[in-house]
Amino acid sequence: MISNYSDILKYAKEHKITIGAFNSFNMETLQAVVSAAEKKQVPLIVQTYHAHAEYAGAEYMRAIYGVAAEHASVKIALGLDHGQSFAQAEKCINVGYTGVMIDLASEDYDVNVKETKRVVELAHSKGISVEAELGVIADADRSLEEIAAGYTDPEVARRFARDTGVDCLAVSVGTAHGNYAHTPKINFDLLKELVDTVSCPIVVHGGSGTPDEDVEEMVRLGIAKLNVGTDFFNAYKKAMFDMMNEKGLGVEATDVMAAARKAVEEVALHKLDILTRFRV
Ligand code: 13P
Repeated sequence: MISNYSDILKYAKEHKITIGAFNSFNMETLQAVVSAAEKKQVPLIVQTYHAHAEYAGAEYMRAIYGVAAEHASVKIALGLDHGQSFAQAEKCINVGYTGVMIDLASEDYDVNVKETKRVVELAHSKGISVEAELGVIADADRSLEEIAAGYTDPEVARRFARDTGVDCLAVSVGTAHGNYAHTPKINFDLLKELVDTVSCPIVVHGGSGTPDEDVEEMVRLGIAKLNVGTDFFNAYKKAMFDMMNEKGLGVEATDVMAAARKAVEEVALHKLDILTRFRV
């Protein structure tokens, strides 16, 4: 069942769960995360990272997302992750994504508001949801101080949500993208203030490598959506590498891909366990 973010995030609130927003870049990673969501019977957002949308082509990703979602027994939204420009968001809207992120957090506030509003107007006219970002969500190889320097200012976040009408907002509270150089330190007080006072649902990025107990606490505090990518990609690469190493070039290519798919599904099941821990 194809759905948009708003519909799925409403479900999350009602059932006290956090929606997994799982990045996938090909058929196997997509099948793995959708299968996990079906096993757990929870809605899911499948996302294309902006660079993967360029790599694979948004049309291709939309086509396989469509097949997965139409056959799934749970609601699936199809998202663009970290859209870099109005043009990239527009492209994904036009090929049938049901949610787009426009990430202009590194721009001035006024530019971020103006461009985000343009995306919101176009997307909402077609029933598509929009996520934006405020604060700097750093790369995970940075120091804890550098990550903390990008924290989202709650006052600005409240204003931004009102000024733009976005459906959800990604914030910087201590997580980062990629493989962590240091165990992340989450600012739970800041996160709680953002969840409690910003008018739209709150999104946390950098779900990989964040300790399970920290993810659980963020779920308890009411984050609406957790983005995860790197943990899947690491599991995918490791499974392929291990099988190739063990069996050499005589192995069937589809056996290698099936092993990678299974490894990704196991990670997705584990993440969904935590995201649905307080389900009512
Ligand atoms: P990770 O790759 O660190 O899990 O981050 C994913 C993400 O936030 C995508 O927007």
